[in-house]
Amino acid sequence: MERKATERTLPAGHNPQPVHSAYGGRPTPAERERGVAALQEEIRALARERKAVILAHNYQVPAVQDVADVVGDSLGLSLEARRTDAERIVFCGVHFMAESAKVLNPDKRVFLPHIAAGCSLADSISPESLEDWMERYPGRAVVTYVNSSAEVKAMSDICCTSANAVSVVRSLATDKILFTPDRNLGRWIAQQVPEKDIVVYDGACPTHDVLRGANVRRTRETHPDAVLIAHPECREDVLAMADEICSTTAMVERVARYPDARTFLVATESGMLHQLRLRYPHQEFVLADGCIGCRLHCPYMKVTALEDVRRALLEEVHEITVPADVAEGARRALERMLAVPRD
Ligand code: 13P
Repeated sequence: MERKATERTLPAGHNPQPVHSAYGGRPTPAERERGVAALQEEIRALARERKAVILAHNYQVPAVQDVADVVGDSLGLSLEARRTDAERIVFCGVHFMAESAKVLNPDKRVFLPHIAAGCSLADSISPESLEDWMERYPGRAVVTYVNSSAEVKAMSDICCTSANAVSVVRSLATDKILFTPDRNLGRWIAQQVPEKDIVVYDGACPTHDVLRGANVRRTRETHPDAVLIAHPECREDVLAMADEICSTTAMVERVARYPDARTFLVATESGMLHQLRLRYPHQEFVLADGCIGCRLHCPYMKVTALEDVRRALLEEVHEITVPADVAEGARRALERMLAVPRD
């Protein structure tokens, strides 16, 4: 099969090390020199001047979430990218998210502030490996999680996110499905929709997949009455203990179902705590891994610092492009998904 040229390449000398930036640890050089608030103010002014909208995923460092026009989950940000009338989209997230924004908005300029913001889960499936699975399981509708490349999306019948996965699978006329690439999300969907025969690809998000039920049980020892909220990319033993299983933005809404609860254990990437704490300042949110060092930490989501956002606006880097034929196929799979409501 012929490969389409959508691979990213790191510019020579580019340092892909994660930065620990405001307010999550050591300040970056620009933050030290100019101060976080001044950088945020400058970014907002630049965005206004350049007619840009700044979108940030819930896993971004708090300072980047705070400078964004919209903070959300993959589905919410895709919808926002489609509806914006801004001329430029600065996507503070990971590459597949910015790529989806470009696919949905071929006429807008889309920028990813840090080129090393990849996704191990998206990289776990290539067009060749999907082709191999499609040959092994012929005649199945291919449902692909948005954590995937545009090329893989273009080979799929429909996409889904963690916010609409069950509804997407239910919406299909066929009962025979190949779900890619996340095995934990796929297994959970298969449990929710037992009437469908779902073959699940063997990929996983390393950040979520590292968490074990034993870690959560240990965290619960110090918070025995806590409500456990988990992302469906977590393993089966963690999901079996959860009170709520949902997308990142849905977590913010689900907390409201427990007005008497004081503490919530959160089984997803650590950036999620920022929006939860902003929305519910009187409740306590604790990462479910019970670790001293933070294991629920995605190095790719955390690579983007405020100065990268500023540079994206000033120097127009890193612009996302998708070949027209790939974009056309990926758009079809994404648009089909967007026609299905949230779970
Ligand atoms: P959400 O769509 O729930 O925000 O999740 C995105 C993601 O990449 C999880 O790892």
